[in-house]
Amino acid sequence: MTPAPDVLQGRIVVRRARTADVLQIAALVDEWAAEELLLPRSASEIAVAIDDYVVAVDLRGRVLACGALREYSPSLAELVSLAVARSAHGRGLGRLVVAQIERLALQRGYASLFAHTLNTEFFSAVGYVSVDRERYPEKAARAHTTCVVRALVGERERLSIAA
Ligand SMILES: CC(C)(COP(=O)(O)OP(=O)(O)OC[C@H]1O[C@@H](n2cnc3c(N)ncnc32)[C@H](O)[C@@H]1OP(=O)(O)O)[C@@H](O)C(=O)NCCC(=O)NCCS
Repeated sequence: MTPAPDVLQGRIVVRRARTADVLQIAALVDEWAAEELLLPRSASEIAVAIDDYVVAVDLRGRVLACGALREYSPSLAELVSLAVARSAHGRGLGRLVVAQIERLALQRGYASLFAHTLNTEFFSAVGYVSVDRERYPEKAARAHTTCVVRALVGERERLSIAA
């Protein structure tokens, strides 16, 4: 997919999160946690793990989208807390945040990334496939979600990461 025009024109930056972003990330995740699309995260939980978060911000520093990486095993990580502000849906920000998290995952040496989601259509559109959720027993309690996964091996070129 071609990035949205405002991304191309540099009006939105996708970057690693900073401590100053914590409250905005918490508010964004909260919005979707209230609809049970995401698990809730407190500001202090986010602050402790801020190095694992990615955000998309506009020129005023407003956080329009976020997502995070969580280690599951030495070769496998989970993509969590993926959220785009309602007003910014459909502009490619979800796709950009996922790609940035994939870069972070590759840089940290993970071979695959998985997520539990109610939105399999989005993940399918950005290259993930559904797998048997029993592969990841820690999440067995969330019985209504679908598990989606993407192998990162061989993806360095797509993600523009130097070998
Ligand atoms: C899911 C979510 C992150 C998508 O973000 P977004 O910025 O609107 O998505 P994008 O604009 O990057 O879309 C990327 C692709 O996914 C598709 N897509 C996005 N949402 C979709 C949906 N609900 N159903 C079907 N396809 C969808 C788009 O059509 C696009 O496909 P294309 O590239 O073939 O045109 C956003 O809707 C959201 O925050 N939802 C609430 C929280 C949530 O469900 N998070 C995921 C749980 S793990």
